[in-house]
Amino acid sequence: MDDTPSVIPTALSALRSKARDAGFIMSSEDRTGSLLAALAAAAPAGRVLELGTGVGEGTAWLLSGMDSASRLTTVELDPDVQVIAQEHLGDDPRVTFVTGDGGTWLEDFDGAPFDLVFADTWPGKFTHLDRALELVAPGGTYLIDDLIPQPGWPEGHEASVERLLAELEERDDFRCVRMAWASGLLMAVRTAGAQPGGSSV
Ligand SMILES: C[S@@+](CC[C@H](N)C(=O)[O-])C[C@H]1O[C@@H](n2cnc3c(N)ncnc32)[C@H](O)[C@@H]1O
Repeated sequence: MDDTPSVIPTALSALRSKARDAGFIMSSEDRTGSLLAALAAAAPAGRVLELGTGVGEGTAWLLSGMDSASRLTTVELDPDVQVIAQEHLGDDPRVTFVTGDGGTWLEDFDGAPFDLVFADTWPGKFTHLDRALELVAPGGTYLIDDLIPQPGWPEGHEASVERLLAELEERDDFRCVRMAWASGLLMAVRTAGAQPGGSSV
């Protein structure tokens, strides 16, 4: 089976070219993007949060899966990369761009929870994890990627990832699935209430 997505968002090739010009190499790969689109499509009139916009490739995938009543908030610290996303996707009324620190945004946010949270930067993943999970609605999904070790990872990062995975899997209010696919993903779905006990293997 070839798992290369056959349909890609229209803005993607322009975003990629701008990313190359800007030397930005942190965008999500297409397989991850196709999963983002499918998860967004699973939440009609959904509320979607992306932490770490980058140049907007993940944003474009999310928007491509969302219906017209869904809304996306995407938060990015670096205005120089987010402006690329704003230039290409800013006309879409479903998306709100926030420029600032994701941790501060998570601490200050007092709105309704989200049906899908793509935590693609430090805050909401390696910091502020509890706060990001608190913002996932029952039945909603928390998704992280970049979990398979890469040659350029800083010293100690692999141990941080292992700690993160363990912490997520210890929670009894989320059901987790690890995907050793694309850059390595973990999807955690918030349970609606108490779950019958499972056993570890
Ligand atoms: C992996 S990239 C995001 C890629 C994007 N989500 C995609 O799917 O193509 C991570 C981004 O997080 C941003 N970032 C780093 N620290 C941040 C912070 N404290 N708050 C918000 N964004 C941050 C970086 O500038 C970078 O653009």
